[in-house]
Amino acid sequence: MGKVHVMDHPLIQHKLTYLRDIKTGAKEFRELAKEMSTLIAYEATRDIPLEDIEIETPICKTTGKIIAGRKVGIVPILRAGLGMVDGFLTLIPAAKVGHIGLYRDPETLEPVEYYCKMPADVTERDLIVVDPMLATGGSAIAAIGFIKDRGVQNIKLCCLIAAPEGIEAVTKAHPDVDIYVAAVDEKLNDHAYLVPGLGDAGDRLFGTK
Ligand code: PRP
Repeated sequence: MGKVHVMDHPLIQHKLTYLRDIKTGAKEFRELAKEMSTLIAYEATRDIPLEDIEIETPICKTTGKIIAGRKVGIVPILRAGLGMVDGFLTLIPAAKVGHIGLYRDPETLEPVEYYCKMPADVTERDLIVVDPMLATGGSAIAAIGFIKDRGVQNIKLCCLIAAPEGIEAVTKAHPDVDIYVAAVDEKLNDHAYLVPGLGDAGDRLFGTK
């Protein structure tokens, strides 16, 4: 079963409070989302494997450690996921970025992929899917499913806030995927909005409401 990592670091909690606040405008919302994403990226990369390398300091020869193995890809779910990309690239500047866009078919309510562009070597990468909000989990489950269909095996999901319902749904649908989230909210309301939540992350990032 995938692990759920809830980040309770004081800096994350502090920034999240301002992110939630209705008085926070688009400029500050973007900055906070970026800063929180950087802190989540720090935690989500904790298990990256290292390898030894021989170097010489000005004093002597020594063995240091560098990151080994597979490369990383960041995959924002359009469109709100875009607000987390810069924060991840701050810590993993060489990561490649894939994009996936989904909408819900108004009749079947099934998620439909309307855009997907992944790095050419995607199957050789460990992917981190980013989306500020995990509500019912429908978007994340579908996005991860579409990515797995392309042969990717090692996937993590990073969100700013999540509903217990969404976490449960994702861990059930994709038990191999670890989830990193700054906070788990109380519940979803009747419109599938997180409570207390932060409203619609896409609208707040891009000023569309
Ligand atoms: C929001 C959010 C997630 C999704 C979460 O996107 O960014 O992608 O809803 O809901 P779910 O867990 O119930 O699927 P939205 O559909 O508002 O699109 P946007 O990113 O374009 O604003």
